[in-house]
Amino acid sequence: MPKPTVMPLPPTQAKAVESAPRREALRHVIESQQFTVPLLMELFERSRGMEHVVARGGTLDYQNRIMTALFYAPSTRTRLSFEAAMHRLGGRVLSTENAGAFSSEIEGEQVEDSIRIISGYSDVIVIRHTEEDGARRAAEVSLVPVINAGDGNGGQHPTQALLDLYTIYRQRPLDGLSVAIIGELDRGRTARSLAYLLAKFDRVKMFFVSPPQLQMKPDILEYLDEHGVRYELESDIDRVIGEVDVVYQTRIRPERVRDMDGLRRYAIDSKVVQRMKPDALILHPLPRTVELDKSVDADPRAMYFRQAMNGLYVRMALLTMLLDKEPAAGSAWW
Ligand code: CP
Repeated sequence: MPKPTVMPLPPTQAKAVESAPRREALRHVIESQQFTVPLLMELFERSRGMEHVVARGGTLDYQNRIMTALFYAPSTRTRLSFEAAMHRLGGRVLSTENAGAFSSEIEGEQVEDSIRIISGYSDVIVIRHTEEDGARRAAEVSLVPVINAGDGNGGQHPTQALLDLYTIYRQRPLDGLSVAIIGELDRGRTARSLAYLLAKFDRVKMFFVSPPQLQMKPDILEYLDEHGVRYELESDIDRVIGEVDVVYQTRIRPERVRDMDGLRRYAIDSKVVQRMKPDALILHPLPRTVELDKSVDADPRAMYFRQAMNGLYVRMALLTMLLDKEPAAGSAWW
C-alpha cells in the first residue's frame, strides 16, 4: 500500500499541539475517557513524527524493550500493527494469538496470574480479552502498562478510536464536526470508544444510526448528556447521510437483524456515496462484510485503508508515551 502523504496541519490544530501540557498521567490504556485533549494532541504530534520514522525504515531507540501481545480473540489489524509498531521502534515482541487455547489458562489459570508472570517478562502488555473487564483486571495486577486492544462483546477498543480520531484530525479540525456512527452500536466496541473521544471536542454532533434494537447503550448517552454533547438516535441512514462531515460505518452481524433487508438498509455503496457531502470522510474500523461495498474503495473520500495504516503510527506513538516513563522490566516484585 502506498504510504500516505504527510500533509501540513491546519493552523488551529498546530496551535493546540504547541500549547499542549506534557507528561500527564497515562499508566494503562483501558478506556477512551482517560484521554484529555492535551494528551490526545501529544499523541497525535508523536504519531506524525512516527510517519517520518516509518518512512525512514524505523528506529532502534527502544531496542531493549519487550512488548507482549496477548490475544484471547481473533485480530488482524490490531495485533499485527502493534507488533509492527514495536518492531519499527527497534523493540522485541512476545506474542500469542489464541491465548485462551495456547496458554496455561486452558488448564484453568486466571488472567491475573498470567499477567503477574508476563509483566515480569515484558515492558508493556497489549491484551484483547473476551470479557468486558479483562483488560482492567489485567491492569490491576500488572507491573507494566497494559493496553486494552478490545474487550468483550461491547466493551471498548480505545486504540482503534485513537487511530480513527487521528485519521479525521489529519484531514480537518475536530471542533464542530458532525459524525454519523452507523451499525451495531450496542456492542460496537470501536463506536463506543470513538463516541467518548469525539465528546471531548467543541460543538461536535453525533448521529447514532442503527436498528432501534441495536442502538447505543445508555452508559454512553448518559455520558454525552452529562457533558452537554449533542446527539440524535436515528434508524434511517437516508436522513443523515447527506448532512455529516464523517461517516463512521461498522458491521452489523446478520444474526442480530431479522433479514438481509435489515442489513442492506444500513449498507454504503456507490449510490449512497453520491448523496454524501463532496468532502465527507468515510471511515470503517474493518474488517467489513456487506455494509461497505468495494465499489466505494476508489472514492477519494474513502479513508479506511489509510485509517488502518494510521494504526501503525498511532500505536508506535502510544507505545513510546508509555515506555518513556517506565523503567525497563527485570526487577522482581517480591
Ligand atoms: N479494527 C480491528 O480491531 O481489527 P482487528 O479485529 O483485525 O484487530
